[in-house]
Amino acid sequence: MSTLSLLLPYNLGSLEIKNRVVMAPLTRRRAGTQDEPLPMHVNYYQQRSGAGLIITEASQISPFGKGYPNTPGIYSETQINAWRKICHAVHAKGGKIFLQLWHVGRYSHPDLLPGGSLPVAPSPLKVSGWINVGAEKKETVVPKELSKDEIKSILKDYQIASENALKAGFDGVEIHGANGYLIDQFLQDGSNHRSDEYGGHIENRSRFLFEVIGTICDIWESGRVGLRLSPSGTKMDMSDSNSIKHFSYIINQLNNYNLAYLHLLEPWFDVSHLANYANHVAVYYRPFYKGTLIASGGLNKDTATELIDNGMADLVAFGKAFISNPDLVRRFELNAPLNDWDVDTFYGGDERGFTDYPFLKT
Ligand SMILES: Cc1cc2nc3c(=O)[nH]c(=O)nc-3n(C[C@H](O)[C@H](O)[C@H](O)COP(=O)(O)O)c2cc1C
Repeated sequence: MSTLSLLLPYNLGSLEIKNRVVMAPLTRRRAGTQDEPLPMHVNYYQQRSGAGLIITEASQISPFGKGYPNTPGIYSETQINAWRKICHAVHAKGGKIFLQLWHVGRYSHPDLLPGGSLPVAPSPLKVSGWINVGAEKKETVVPKELSKDEIKSILKDYQIASENALKAGFDGVEIHGANGYLIDQFLQDGSNHRSDEYGGHIENRSRFLFEVIGTICDIWESGRVGLRLSPSGTKMDMSDSNSIKHFSYIINQLNNYNLAYLHLLEPWFDVSHLANYANHVAVYYRPFYKGTLIASGGLNKDTATELIDNGMADLVAFGKAFISNPDLVRRFELNAPLNDWDVDTFYGGDERGFTDYPFLKT
């Protein structure tokens, strides 16, 4: 294939997408006072609808799943109505859009949660460091260990959030199972010390993930449900005694679910010193997974093309490059230079650094 392989259409389950370039989920922390996306979000996502598939910023499934100020939710009518405008705007430009469903688990703070509640987690193990709760940062707290009834109640939240995503007009949903949030906290043994059927060996630690998948697939056809995982990720104090063995098990099991895709995130930083590091996670796990694989993390046009041409990934996702290049796909097509991104405007603020990155002059 030529370098234009990124630009070829792809059949993602029952959905045809116009190219292989995916906009990775990107938290931008600009939601309104009711955690609803704003009119500027309509513009932001529409500007990026040249992507084959947009995956939205992570969106909490309930007010208890929130871990940062001003992140959007998908549990209220106001939020559903606001997302609906975004879906319309993206569809009007021939784009497709999945909503990323999020529960942060222990990575939160009572200041961010209703009634000053404690964050919840598989086990009462604190993340080190500080949490941004708005104007200031506060030290993390020991989370409350989830009871089995509380786990059921979170599954119910996933169900309602998935129904809401359907009402809003999304093309599908992506389960956020990566980056040290609730699902990942269950999966990895550094954060899951439970002794019931949700802890211990990997069949038990992955139970919550598969229950979430099952719950969502009762609402959406499985071909419209994606999953993001970050094997080898050490963000948010994550660790596992044998990540390759355990994630290989999970990824093998996923073959039974006929999901839209598995989205694998490369570690964001050098973890080659870890004994169980899988060099290039997408390449490592490709042989295990029979369905559509999205690779993401640190890619550029050439490395992404190589992954597709070598059959190591079916689709490739770009994060920061999509922040600063609304017309990223067109730039790939024309071999045009890319705008640099401005880290200072990644999180919070207004249209600046959000909707004002320049398009190519045609
Ligand atoms: C500002 C910012 C926000 C992010 N928000 C999310 C998010 O909401 N959900 C998620 O799964 N990953 C999130 N990520 C990770 C990105 O999706 C992506 O995997 C990461 O930026 C590496 O890809 P890149 O090298 O192409 O930027 C975020 C990254 C950045 C820089």
